[in-house]
Amino acid sequence: MTPGKFITLEGVDGAGKSTHLGFVADWLRGQGREVIVTREPGGTPLGETLRELLLHRDMDADTELLLMFAARQQHLAELIRPALARGAWVVSDRFTDASYAYQCGGRGIATERIAVLEAWVQRGFAPDLTLLFDVPPEVAEARRSAARTADRFEREADSFFSRVRNAYLDRARAEPGRIRVLDARRSIDALQDDIAQLLEELA
Ligand SMILES: Nc1ncnc2c1ncn2[C@@H]1O[C@H](COP(=O)(O)OP(=O)(O)OP(=O)(O)O)[C@@H](O)[C@H]1O
Ligand SMILES: [Mg+2]
Repeated sequence: MTPGKFITLEGVDGAGKSTHLGFVADWLRGQGREVIVTREPGGTPLGETLRELLLHRDMDADTELLLMFAARQQHLAELIRPALARGAWVVSDRFTDASYAYQCGGRGIATERIAVLEAWVQRGFAPDLTLLFDVPPEVAEARRSAARTADRFEREADSFFSRVRNAYLDRARAEPGRIRVLDARRSIDALQDDIAQLLEELA
């Protein structure tokens, strides 16, 4: 059995990740693949419980980082690795790039501390393709306020989201083959044309 591939969607809150998740899954299913759609933090019963704490309880920045990776460990062990092993493709709304963007870029935790946890939990595992939805903070903010009430991250200032965005773009520059940057100011249709093209290259 050929293992499946792991695709992640990234970007600041309001960039459009959830909007395109279903499109990616449907496109892959159209190719006859089994597709699992999931998200971080979350994706398992334990992970979803941790998500509630992460999104709504105040906590120390390092505690936040450790809980993110605890949820990720469970996600990999219980869902992602078994699914890929049986040949399913897995599409996740956020993964480890978000830890570098939010906990490192946003909260200011040193990159090396995150890299240690990444090596511990992932043991070399990484997504096959990451779609980075890039928008200026003010565009994301306008989309968020139209959409729903804010969680603990979404209440952060524009300066926080600027740092998050820049950390994402730094990662994309370091790994241009895996992380594909999409200008998410464009229309949903235009973005989906580009996404289909990138999926075609992967399949
Ligand atoms: N390209 C686009 N053009 C215009 N509006 C968009 C576009 N993409 C998404 N939106 C709208 O912006 C809002 C936020 O999108 P979405 O929920 O997909 O963002 P997200 O990245 O998943 O955010 P979060 O991280 O908060 O979950 C939604 O109302 C969505 O319909
Ligand atoms: Mg979303």
